[in-house]
Amino acid sequence: MSATPSTVTAPSAMLRIRPLTDHIGAEIEGVDLSRPISAAQFQAVNAALVAHGVLVFRNQDLPPAMHVDFSSRFGPLVGHIVKRFSVEDFPEVTYISNVKNDKGEMIGADRAGMIWHSDMSYMERPMLGSMLYGVECPPEGADTEFASMFAAHDALPESLRARLNKLRGIHDYPWHYATYLSHRKPLTEEEKAQAPPVTHPIIRTHPVSGRKALYLSEGLTRSIEGMDEAEGRRLICLLTDFSTQPAFVYRHRWQPRDLVFWDNRSTMHRATEFDNQYRRLMRRTTIQGDAPF
Ligand SMILES: [Fe+2]
Repeated sequence: MSATPSTVTAPSAMLRIRPLTDHIGAEIEGVDLSRPISAAQFQAVNAALVAHGVLVFRNQDLPPAMHVDFSSRFGPLVGHIVKRFSVEDFPEVTYISNVKNDKGEMIGADRAGMIWHSDMSYMERPMLGSMLYGVECPPEGADTEFASMFAAHDALPESLRARLNKLRGIHDYPWHYATYLSHRKPLTEEEKAQAPPVTHPIIRTHPVSGRKALYLSEGLTRSIEGMDEAEGRRLICLLTDFSTQPAFVYRHRWQPRDLVFWDNRSTMHRATEFDNQYRRLMRRTTIQGDAPF
């Protein structure tokens, strides 16, 4: 692939980092994830993740064991609340899919993440990052969009930023599920009990770079603490719209064997529609992060 002028080579790691937009996304070339990566490669990938928010690795051979191996270099893995979506023998790996088993049941999360969100922001310690691998991808549609919450934060008017700095969002998975996932079996009481609502600062500090990012989403932030529920909801939706303006967004068009690794501390994402006649089979891991501050 031809290098753009902005391509960076990390010499000790033998990999190249090619930014995909002005604010978010980079393609990483020169790394083979089917075998353990070196310490230098790990450091270069980690630094690129913090800088670019979304990393794309094309044409990777990544069976579940290697998916777990690579992901767990970055932190402990967290399986999906809904255990039936796990890959057999790999509880940390979740299927995102519209494929059904012999009994006619969905093997994975179907129509997952169609509303802007940051993965599992409803946990006390939400996810550092997520890695999604394409096994079978529809020939059109089913793109994933990513928005830079660093860029959104930096573009906010100073007065609004000062106001948001004092506020905490209420992140609520059972609310999200009831609102957006009514096509699925309802959550059990046990599943609901694993995810009571939590609050997080609306402006968070990236624990590695110290940059400030907006931290809320239309999909998972139900409202704002101390604010009238409907007023809080309106502000969340306005800020989601602001954050997802085209200049701040990278849209990934999937090919089989793509691995996309994103930083949930500084980005939001959403899945997009596709024709359900096509099979979609993706595998995902999520990596535990720290409590936002
Ligand atoms: Fe997601």
